[in-house]
Amino acid sequence: MSKPVTQGSLFRSRIAKEFDKKTAEFHTSANEDLRIFEDDLNCTTAHDIMLHEQGIIPTKELKLILTALDGIRQKWRTGEVTIGAEYEDVHEYIETTVIKQIGIEAGGMIHTGRSRNDQVVTDIKLRLREDILSLGEATLNLVDALQKRAAEHADTHMILYTHGQHAQVGTMGAYLSAHADILLRDAQRLSELYARVNTNPLGAGPVGGTSININRKRTTELLGFDAIHENAIDATSARDWAVETASVCAIILGDLSRLSADILEWSTVEFGYIELSDEYSSSSSIMPQKKNPSTIELLRGKSGQATGALIELMTMTKGLGSGYVQDLQETKLTLWRTVYNAQICLEIMEGAVSTMKIKPEKLSKPLKGNFALATELAETLANETPLSFREAYKIAADLVNTTISRGSTLDKLTPKDVEESAEKLYKKKIKVAPTLVEKATDPIQSLNRRRSLGAPSPAEVKRMVKEHGAAAKKQRKELDAKKKAVEASLKNLHATAAKLSK
Ligand code: ARG
Repeated sequence: MSKPVTQGSLFRSRIAKEFDKKTAEFHTSANEDLRIFEDDLNCTTAHDIMLHEQGIIPTKELKLILTALDGIRQKWRTGEVTIGAEYEDVHEYIETTVIKQIGIEAGGMIHTGRSRNDQVVTDIKLRLREDILSLGEATLNLVDALQKRAAEHADTHMILYTHGQHAQVGTMGAYLSAHADILLRDAQRLSELYARVNTNPLGAGPVGGTSININRKRTTELLGFDAIHENAIDATSARDWAVETASVCAIILGDLSRLSADILEWSTVEFGYIELSDEYSSSSSIMPQKKNPSTIELLRGKSGQATGALIELMTMTKGLGSGYVQDLQETKLTLWRTVYNAQICLEIMEGAVSTMKIKPEKLSKPLKGNFALATELAETLANETPLSFREAYKIAADLVNTTISRGSTLDKLTPKDVEESAEKLYKKKIKVAPTLVEKATDPIQSLNRRRSLGAPSPAEVKRMVKEHGAAAKKQRKELDAKKKAVEASLKNLHATAAKLSK
């Protein structure tokens, strides 16, 4: 006795029994497939239009199919679709629903010349390319926010740290501009990733193509893919592009996590360099004084999940032989989660950075006479006396020790102190200009003299923000063009479908 397709058993003709209930729930991807519901409709619409153009689906049947698909889309949009575990996935649900509506003679044509194996990859890539564009946009928005704050604080002097210790004098503008540059590279990574994701696997069949006279170029065009994902085995088996997506997400969240680490440290009372705005802070159930930068802590915490997602995907896929295997179904859940996390974290960070209070008076407080100017002193001696840099370095170190033993600060040193140190260490009689110490130990003057390319001087910050801002603009233009191309292709697909279903 043939089994009714209305039971959700479309693909079990060779098998006598249905899945038992627990196994059906275990096996189905219906839940994670909700994210690709419309993509699956688009994929089928394009495939069937192509089959019609190839003379495989007649006009009458195509009209019925396209009308049924459109009806499902309308129901989906009004929230009337639920897919139970009796369906293995969205693909079975949609084909079953079409067949239920228009019968198996016409409805049974929709899956001609393709497999769920090429279909599911196509759907995922359709979704992911839009995800990647949104991530690109969110990344560039954060770049803009960081650059804006960097420009505002090009002249806000601060200590830069290495090993958590005072290192050199810099500016808040340079710090923020550094993170803008990091994220600009992430935007570039997303753009390169997009090229590898936006290729069309549809028509690869189960693993080895089809004898049906399909036209892969046409579905590529109809779905707005940039190229064909050619080799049928590759197209259905490979998930390197999914791993790469998780990898870029992990890199982005790693970058946000490092930015978070600084924001969190600088928000402490001990530093007080920064204060998050109220919209990004929480308080305590018992300690009334608390203003916690918990949003940023959460963001740092979520970055761990992104690393986990990358490991998950690499582990899930690394041992698989070629050809579709059900293990691959699990990759969708990981992908969706990591892409979502990256998106929301970028958006939250943009808001936090745009609204946080930066306190120049706190940032400049530790600067005067700071030992961080010892490098400046050594370099000034190397520049203005015949001493080698290493001699100058050792003299500066000796002067740091002298200053510490005096309980004093570097700016209080005299030219005589320097001359005596040179005499003591190297038996060299040098002439130190009366203004040398003052010049070297004044944080602002000394930073302004540090004019090497990319140094954190206000002038360099202003130049970098301007030039790198132009690079960000160029990236945004390219991203907008990709977005428009996707929108146009889908609009065209739907218009073509509407015309053909009349
Ligand atoms: N539901 C599967 C997935 O999400 C696609 C179906 C492939 N199944 C199959 N039996 N070939 O990956």
